[in-house]
Amino acid sequence: MQNINIVKDVKEIVKAWRKEGKTIGFVPTMGYLHSGHESLIKKARAENDKVVVSIFVNPTQFGPTEDLSTYPRDMESDTAMCNNNNVDLIFYPEPNQMYPEDFFTYVNIDVLGENLCGVSRPTHFRGVCTVVLKLFNIVMPDKAYFGKKDAQQLAIIKKMVEDLNINVEIIPCETVREEDGLAKSSRNSYLDKDERQAALVLSKSLAMAKEMIQKGEKNAKAIIDKMTDMINLEPKATIDYIKIVDEKNLKDVSSLDKKVIIALAVKIGKTRLIDNISEVN
Ligand code: PAJ
Repeated sequence: MQNINIVKDVKEIVKAWRKEGKTIGFVPTMGYLHSGHESLIKKARAENDKVVVSIFVNPTQFGPTEDLSTYPRDMESDTAMCNNNNVDLIFYPEPNQMYPEDFFTYVNIDVLGENLCGVSRPTHFRGVCTVVLKLFNIVMPDKAYFGKKDAQQLAIIKKMVEDLNINVEIIPCETVREEDGLAKSSRNSYLDKDERQAALVLSKSLAMAKEMIQKGEKNAKAIIDKMTDMINLEPKATIDYIKIVDEKNLKDVSSLDKKVIIALAVKIGKTRLIDNISEVN
């Protein structure tokens, strides 16, 4: 496995692979890898000749009051996980490799970036799209792997690829959860013991929504109200949003008669967590 932190070096290696006719699978991450990330890496390993994992805590996707400086990092354990899964190359650039002083170009995403997380994180998806497009141009993958855990991110990246005619196939991957239902996230490491328990309210409220839908509930507000009541009973939880949106355009729906995503963001203490499920109707 090669560990590279220079853009030019990655481009050279990738160019050589492509000349040999190798296919490249790519898993972009911000590191502190857990079994959610690992599931993407395993899928990439199974479907491609070469696998590249990037580890980069991307400053442009963090707002001014967010957790950029405290975002968890553990290069040693990340390297071990990549090694165990036969990754061919880890790309872990320093911020000045990705954003030199004279960096001026950003990818702006309209509409899809405005609802859900876009309300409280107005510059987040601009940063995500910009870094992902840069990484695509550096790694030149055939396939890139994204988790459904970040449903809005996945929808936006798919749309960016379509709108900008990018030659990469986006492969969606299922959300990996702890045994008790909490979606795996690097940010779960911020939670203390009581908060970890309180955080179960996200997956529990989604499970309740699923049950309501299975029993025939079609009214989005009725489902959201029940979820709100359940979460408000948890003293450590503060709701950022609970929404039911169309899977394609991410706009709110009032009635569940197409494929929807039920998504929520909740602060547990100071830690903001997100989760979602998708439902076919
Ligand atoms: P990060 O949060 O590190 O996540 C990297 C990838 O792992 C994303 O595609 C995310 O959806 C996926 N992932 C995270 N937790 C998961 C889980 N429990 N189950 C399945 N997949 C999971 O998302 C980012 O980084 C960044 O925004 C990035 C795309 C790298 C751009 O900076």
